[in-house]
Amino acid sequence: MNILITGGAGFIGSNFIIYWLKKYARDNIINLDALTYAGNLANLNSVANLPNYRFIKGNICNSRLVSNIIRDIDIIVHFAAESHVDRSITDPGIFLETNIYGTHLLLKAALKNKIKRFHHISTDEVFGSLLLKDKNKFNEKTPYHPRSPYAASKAAADHLVLSFCHTYGLPVTITNCSNNYGPFQHPEKLIPLTITNIIENIKVPLYGDGKNIRDWLYVEDHCRAIELVLKEGRVGETYCVGGLLKDVSNLAVIKMIFRLLQGNENLLTFVPDRPGHDRKYAIDWSKIKRELGWQPRYSLEACLVKTVNWYKNNRSWWQSLKNRQFQAYFKKQYPDL
Ligand code: NAD
Ligand code: DAU
Repeated sequence: MNILITGGAGFIGSNFIIYWLKKYARDNIINLDALTYAGNLANLNSVANLPNYRFIKGNICNSRLVSNIIRDIDIIVHFAAESHVDRSITDPGIFLETNIYGTHLLLKAALKNKIKRFHHISTDEVFGSLLLKDKNKFNEKTPYHPRSPYAASKAAADHLVLSFCHTYGLPVTITNCSNNYGPFQHPEKLIPLTITNIIENIKVPLYGDGKNIRDWLYVEDHCRAIELVLKEGRVGETYCVGGLLKDVSNLAVIKMIFRLLQGNENLLTFVPDRPGHDRKYAIDWSKIKRELGWQPRYSLEACLVKTVNWYKNNRSWWQSLKNRQFQAYFKKQYPDL
């Protein structure tokens, strides 16, 4: 099987490539990634020299390049995206370009080359926000109500993907997953930012009142869900993927990390809220459980320990990402710190 992974040098894409090659050593993987600030080839050191893995530096918006690469491809797993909500609030344009236009070009190429499966990696953010007191969760039938430019761009991409299935018969599947955490996540995101700032004795920013709730999922669980959808998922279907069974606030997550690192809690600093900040996400993953037998294997308690240890043991990996460019971003994003 020849698989094209887009955005495979990012957090989830690189975890997926490593996961897949460990299990399916005979498959060939091409990883197409533009290496934006979020892409990092160091994530893939463990597979870089395998004969069945090939990296191509390039943009999914480059249609000629995509057409050339796609010729012998059976399956596309499309991770490439601008992924950080805060950056989408500061500068939405690139989100529309990569997440919408880029997806559309890939879809066109996939159709032309009669790709056997186009799997699109999407997010629970397309559904909008729940109230803190809500008992109901997002599921595949929840109407789309994106509230950030990032979420709107992902929602548009999802609609395009499904439209290529309905209109042209392209065999697509979509997973809408909740917040991932684990190794190789860029330190701009809440969990790695908290871990690395505590280690460096830098203030840890918490938006608003810290009561917002995310549905955390260990990245390996997400990889396994994608694997099952690729193997047994029904064409034209979307599958919601999520983790937690009970609500955990951002403040609670940060406090768990402080405890694990025995960090100085005075570093925790409440900062002005993210504009339009979604209050709560929660995923009902009963469809993927019922149809494909998937359910999360890992608990937040156990995998937060694993993740904290990974960042403790891989200091040079994240220190190189917290470079001068990142310092400038951090200063602009958190002027009160
Ligand atoms: P990430 O930001 O870590 O990685 C994105 C990767 O895409 C990077 O390697 C980057 O270089 C590459 N990329 C960006 N623009 C590109 C372009 N124009 N052409 C080619 N490559 C490009 O993101 P992530 O957290 O790994 O997320 C991967 C996918 O999963 C995204 O589609 C995101 O929307 C989705 N998702 C993420 C989460 C999460 O919690 N991180 C949850 C659900 C869904
Ligand atoms: O839900 C899935 C989404 O999860 C993915 O689609 C996105 O690509 C991914 O980035 C993530 O989005 P979030 O905005 O939820 O993740 P982030 O790590 O940025 O923030 C998690 C929560 O923590 C959110 O409520 C905002 C809050 N936060 C975040 C940062 C960076 C803070 O309080 N302080 C911070 O400095």
